[in-house]
Amino acid sequence: MADTTSVVLHSLPTDSHHCNTGRVYGNDFADPDQPPGSGLLDEVADAERELRARNAQDVGAGDAGAGSDYFAALVAADQKIEPRDWMPDGYRATLIRQMAQHAHSEIIGMQPEANWITRAPSLKRKAILLAKVQDEAGHGLYLYAATETLGVSRDALYELLLGGKQKYSSIFNYPTLTWADIGAIGWLVDGAAIVNQVPLCRCSYGPYARAMIRICKEESFHQRQGFEILHTLAHGTPQQKAMAQDAVDRWWYPSLAMFGPPDTDSTHSAQSMAWKIKRFSNDDLRQRFVDMCAQQATVLGLTLPDPDLRWNPERGAYDYTPPDYAELMEVIRGNGPCNRQRMAHHRAAHEDGAWVREAASAYAAKRAARAAAPQPSELTHV
Ligand code: 3HC
Repeated sequence: MADTTSVVLHSLPTDSHHCNTGRVYGNDFADPDQPPGSGLLDEVADAERELRARNAQDVGAGDAGAGSDYFAALVAADQKIEPRDWMPDGYRATLIRQMAQHAHSEIIGMQPEANWITRAPSLKRKAILLAKVQDEAGHGLYLYAATETLGVSRDALYELLLGGKQKYSSIFNYPTLTWADIGAIGWLVDGAAIVNQVPLCRCSYGPYARAMIRICKEESFHQRQGFEILHTLAHGTPQQKAMAQDAVDRWWYPSLAMFGPPDTDSTHSAQSMAWKIKRFSNDDLRQRFVDMCAQQATVLGLTLPDPDLRWNPERGAYDYTPPDYAELMEVIRGNGPCNRQRMAHHRAAHEDGAWVREAASAYAAKRAARAAAPQPSELTHV
């Protein structure tokens, strides 16, 4: 027998607008009546197929030679730039900034969620949340590894974060006050993350694009578990429903702000889009997210806290009230509700883990020394 959530999700109105609603949750929640290729996970699958096909038939740069012509030809042909390829300094610096910020976000993002592991309402919820938080650690590691291919070490990236020279996403500076916040983070924060990150599966830098394919598949599960938590609460007691609504009220605008400043104030978008690092502008992705959530909220039976949210048939999109960008800038500058707490916790965890790094280095050195030492069989021949 299908569970209630899956039945409800099957009835999502997916065909009214060109936004993605039904298939974002994965195959088990996909609407069998909808044509394939209409959802975010289908876009990830398309990007993965495209990557494999391109790998198999290197058709990109023709006679462009090396250097900047070759780079431009690869980008124009939608081929991937690989670590061995020449790339402009600005391209490298932009990637290091964005990918490191992304990696730091995954790691710092473990804190607000881990806050609820010991207080999850059941063993099942606890196991799911543990798995999810571990996934975030894995995402951080893929992304640090991908960033290292640009010639910067993970230690250096850690120092930049701890020294306040690199950032992490604004969203993780908000507190998780109730269990429903775990649902709201899954539905809204991971939902926003997916909308932002699916296009990165087509990023021009190969290691980043490949990492994103795996990450997006896992994020889809994260969003689904958040939706399911909220759905359960919203269909529970009046107090549970109120708790779910309160969480959505608090997380809606910070989630909208995750997409960054409006296009008019976005410093990097134009160049990043020309280099095909970013494929859509901040505002385009924010709009896509709003359109998706407006429909899903009705399935949840919850209200998005925006009295001006309404479908605009002329634009073919929902009108909405933008987030408070002054607040976003304050949070980015380090003045959000939890910035200091997050960094203090991260610094302490880094220091506590020093012995693990030392032990791993000592073990690696010992193995290398053993491998370099003459073997007994070689000694007998001397
Ligand atoms: N939080 C913190 N800083 C932000 C930000 C945010 N939400 N949005 C923008 N910024 C910063 C930029 O880094 C940039 O800083 P700088 O000028 O000092 O270098 C400045 O604000 C101007 O913004 P731009 O629009 O010019 O910056 P970008 O072109 O880099 O676009 C972005 C911002 C859309 C966030 C882009 O960097 C991006 O797509 N990054 C990859 C995805 C990512 O990092 N997501 C973070 C969340 S991870 C996550 O959610 C984990 C999941 O498990 C929940």
